Amino acid sequence: MLHLVEHPLIGHKLTLMRCADTSTDSFRRLLQEISQALAYEVTRDLPVDSIPIRTPLAEMNAPTIRGKKLCLISILRAGNGMLEGMLAFLPAARIGHIGLYRDPETLQAIEYYFKVPVDIADRLVIVVDPMLATGHSAIAAVDRLKAAGARNLKFVCLLAAPEGVAAFTEAHPDVAITSAALDECLNEHGYIMPGLGDAGDRMFGTK
Ligand code: URA
Repeated sequence: MLHLVEHPLIGHKLTLMRCADTSTDSFRRLLQEISQALAYEVTRDLPVDSIPIRTPLAEMNAPTIRGKKLCLISILRAGNGMLEGMLAFLPAARIGHIGLYRDPETLQAIEYYFKVPVDIADRLVIVVDPMLATGHSAIAAVDRLKAAGARNLKFVCLLAAPEGVAAFTEAHPDVAITSAALDECLNEHGYIMPGLGDAGDRMFGTK
């Protein structure tokens, strides 16, 4: 399932990110700002309990998040650009990292790093990567997280391609996707069109 977060401010910030002449500095800041909004959206349906509390004026029942809290999983390296913004909204979240690179020939995801919290089975696991392109990295990351015990997962990205959404949904129909936009297609190199280019290069100033 794809949940598109439609909001004028997100659309405006994403437009700035897409522009080829936006600086590294601005690109990073905009990604953080949008990620904060995406964190808000993806946690909209967290289960809550009602607990008795006392305010300075009265007793009341008030909501509190149920169970163990969250875990953010960054797909390296571009996923790291979303962490700071998401943590601004979810400061207590645990963090894990998965290192995957795309084989330039096959576009398949190859794992080179995996470090996640030990109690991942008890947490809502939110996997972050700005670009859902072919879906290979996202699918491989979720395969690996499920093998490590994760049972309750969501995927958050900035931009999605229809091809990536279809492949990911087929592989993991239980994992909802939250994205700021759905673009037109992939090009022959697996880049999202019209997209914003290579998210990692743009946020880290590499080529
Ligand atoms: N990864 C990126 O950084 N950009 C794309 O368009 C596709 C994958």
